[in-house]
Amino acid sequence: MVKQVAGAWMMMVWCLVPVAWAQSERVAGSTTEQAVSQALEKARAAATALTQALLGELLQHMREGGPGAAVAVCAAKAQELTKAQQQEGLLLRRVSTRTRNPQNRPDEYEQAKLALMEQQYREHKRTDEVSEWYLEGKMLTLRYLRPIVVGEMCLACHGDGEHMKQEVRDFLSQHYPEDQAVGYQAGDFRGAVSVTVKQALPPDLQNQ
Ligand code: HEC
Repeated sequence: MVKQVAGAWMMMVWCLVPVAWAQSERVAGSTTEQAVSQALEKARAAATALTQALLGELLQHMREGGPGAAVAVCAAKAQELTKAQQQEGLLLRRVSTRTRNPQNRPDEYEQAKLALMEQQYREHKRTDEVSEWYLEGKMLTLRYLRPIVVGEMCLACHGDGEHMKQEVRDFLSQHYPEDQAVGYQAGDFRGAVSVTVKQALPPDLQNQ
């Protein structure tokens, strides 16, 4: 398991203003760590809830109507189910470097982490999660990514021609003309659930 919890040096990478950096130095301590670990737990719980919701829906419709029916449900409900897990101060999405839905394209930060995770994955150094945090004044921001790996069942809609029914291919080419999320094999790195948590530091820390 590789966890990357970084403080001040990340500030430089992200080019935040030096003021924020100075404040983070001042408040760095065990209570900041508590706030970070709370945010981390929140991110983990949201990633798990989203994965379960999507998988539950997918399995049910694959069982009931096969991939031809499930693909339409997935197309109609994936974004909705994702948004349902958002809360105030918590943003989450699924991202990939090879997207089906352009709405799932990674931002610059996610892109860099996906590339890193994919490389680690290829080298068999599997990562369960990646997280980093930084402070901007009194606001803590935590970014969290949990990898998504392709399983056998996914190939019905993300595999190659051999695994995908004609009706699925027709649906995909009609609804996702820019689809890049095919040609995967079981065990491939697919992308990540990405969570951003933003929360104010507890008041006792703010007065320091
Ligand atoms: C029945 C067809 C179907 C199956 C099976 C399926 N998917 Fe998808 N997948 C889709 C559709 C449709 C989308 C686009 C949904 C959206 O709007 O985000 C998608 C999107 C995704 C995305 C978001 C990134 C992107 O490409 O837009 C990920 C990640 C993903 N699928 C992973 C998986 C994994 C892992 C499995 C197996 C557990 C799986 N999928 C099985 C149809 C399917």
